[in-house]
Amino acid sequence: MSKDQENLPVKIPRHVAIIMDGNGRWALSRGLPRLAGHRAGTENLRRVIEACVEFGVQYLTLYAFSTENWGRPVEEVRGLIRILEDVIDRELKELHKNGVQLRHIGQLDRINPSLKKKVLSAIELTKDNTRLVLNVAFNYGGRDEIIWAVKRMLADQVAPNDVTVELVNQYLFTVGVPDPDLIIRTSGELRGSNFLIWQGAYAEWYFTPTFWPDFGKEALQEAIDEYAHRERRFGQVNKK
Ligand code: IPE
Ligand code: IPE
Ligand code: MG
Repeated sequence: MSKDQENLPVKIPRHVAIIMDGNGRWALSRGLPRLAGHRAGTENLRRVIEACVEFGVQYLTLYAFSTENWGRPVEEVRGLIRILEDVIDRELKELHKNGVQLRHIGQLDRINPSLKKKVLSAIELTKDNTRLVLNVAFNYGGRDEIIWAVKRMLADQVAPNDVTVELVNQYLFTVGVPDPDLIIRTSGELRGSNFLIWQGAYAEWYFTPTFWPDFGKEALQEAIDEYAHRERRFGQVNKK
């Protein structure tokens, strides 16, 4: 066993989801504008993604922009959309080289056509990669996702008795992706903020006071180590 492997935590969550929170406060604490915090919050992305690959995580979902974030000042919203575009321009080649499959969850309707095209072509380019599935939640909201699923089920004339958990899963943005095992929220807030409200029904939650731009490989390792010690019961009684 290599030195690196010796240090690997024992039980690895198959799907890790992260609420990347605290960029604004990170910037504020340094006397910088909020957008500087959002930019800083992209510098650590590569490290976190590479750490997931190294740890053997198979699915990573990152909450980048919620349906409620449209309510922020227009300059911040514009800045966040620009940052998404810059991240694709800067990181796509490396992600593809590293075998990352890019997916998007949420709606692309309010995003300008040229960025929409860029997102769709990044998804197309990486669709056969298998090392890590990276879901980017942009303009994502759990309630919006469920409404969208219900509308499409009705349009498909699904019979009431055919509605099951498995069928609903088929209609969500996350179709084909297993439920998150571990949901991490940075910045000390203890809430879900409309993230994966259906899929996270039995996820283990991990909260850290660290602001997102300061969250790196070691912080991820700590979260995974804690996860490894949790006993998941899914409403049942574990045999001893
Ligand atoms: C998370 O950081 C990024 C987004 C929600 C887009 P915030 O911008 O929410 O940072 P805080 O919570 O105000 O510190
Ligand atoms: C959740 O963070 C959304 C993202 C991290 C993209 P927010 O900062 O928007 O959530 P609240 O307002 O604290 O609930
Ligand atoms: Mg926040």
